[in-house]
Amino acid sequence: MPFSGSVRDTASSKTPDLPRGVRALLSDVADLLLCPVCGRGLRRGQRSLRCDARHTFDVARQGYVNLLAGQAPAGTADTADMVRAREEFLAAGHYRILADALTAETRRVRAGSGLVVDVGAGTGHYLARVLDGAPGASGLAIDVSKHALRRAARAHPRAAAIAWDVWQPFPVRSGVAAVVLDVFAPRHGAEFRRVLRPDGALLVVTPEADHLGELVGPLGLVAVDERKDERLDTALDDHFRIERRERIAGTAVMSPEQVVTVASMGPSARHVAPEDLRGRATALGDRIPVSVAFRLAVYRPR
Ligand SMILES: C[S@@+](CC[C@H](N)C(=O)[O-])C[C@H]1O[C@@H](n2cnc3c(N)ncnc32)[C@H](O)[C@@H]1O
Ligand SMILES: [Zn+2]
Repeated sequence: MPFSGSVRDTASSKTPDLPRGVRALLSDVADLLLCPVCGRGLRRGQRSLRCDARHTFDVARQGYVNLLAGQAPAGTADTADMVRAREEFLAAGHYRILADALTAETRRVRAGSGLVVDVGAGTGHYLARVLDGAPGASGLAIDVSKHALRRAARAHPRAAAIAWDVWQPFPVRSGVAAVVLDVFAPRHGAEFRRVLRPDGALLVVTPEADHLGELVGPLGLVAVDERKDERLDTALDDHFRIERRERIAGTAVMSPEQVVTVASMGPSARHVAPEDLRGRATALGDRIPVSVAFRLAVYRPR
């Protein structure tokens, strides 16, 4: 979802119109969270979450809660530039087929009124689309990048956002999630399994081998690893069985700027200097047809 400019960035304790993510956090989602210090349940306060042992986590003015308090954030967090680029690109609709597929799949697995946890949620773009299609559900965006979380906290009125490291045990109660979403993000099988309801589903999106295929040569990107799927299955195997896989593919016509953005969104771009990327993208013309191809895998808890 495009950034909503109507939400104020400067809410103070006197401001009644809390950012959207705060409303969700303080209403639907807070009771599903656990204190990361002592493991007790968290409860909502006026502008904070706290446990019975009085560990208190303030809601940032941008609407997310940093539950990592005191711990160094992981080095993998997206930078402000990466997040801004991704937000603009996704808002242009080039990956709409993926958002639609995730929405349809969430309906199919009957998330109903449950919780959708988006792990490595980035700007919350997919979580927002999925919640649009699941009117009774609420969402929790987890990411380690504060730049991403600022957006994710405003992505949808029913979505809350927390700063957390995927590799740590999630500060989320067991068996509360109807759906766990993982779109191009790290995967922690044991924790995905623990937070999911027994009838829940894990939706994992990875790039197909031909994703952005036309750009790999000209832009000097790293090609998608074709054996990734196999490794993905193995990594999740202990906790999940695969229910189905779907290929979602199309062609997106991109401007050179958008080509630079999409190239900068993935890890592949870290090998090429930004000014080189720009020069190479411009050489491809004004309107550049690019294959987009995703693998959507649906897993069920064992
Ligand atoms: C490629 S982006 C995908 C974002 C989003 N799912 C999307 O498709 O637009 C990967 C995201 O995972 C987050 N991330 C990376 N390592 C993480 C970690 N250890 N814990 C939580 N989030 C992490 C990054 O900050 C980034 O937002
Ligand atoms: Zn506590």
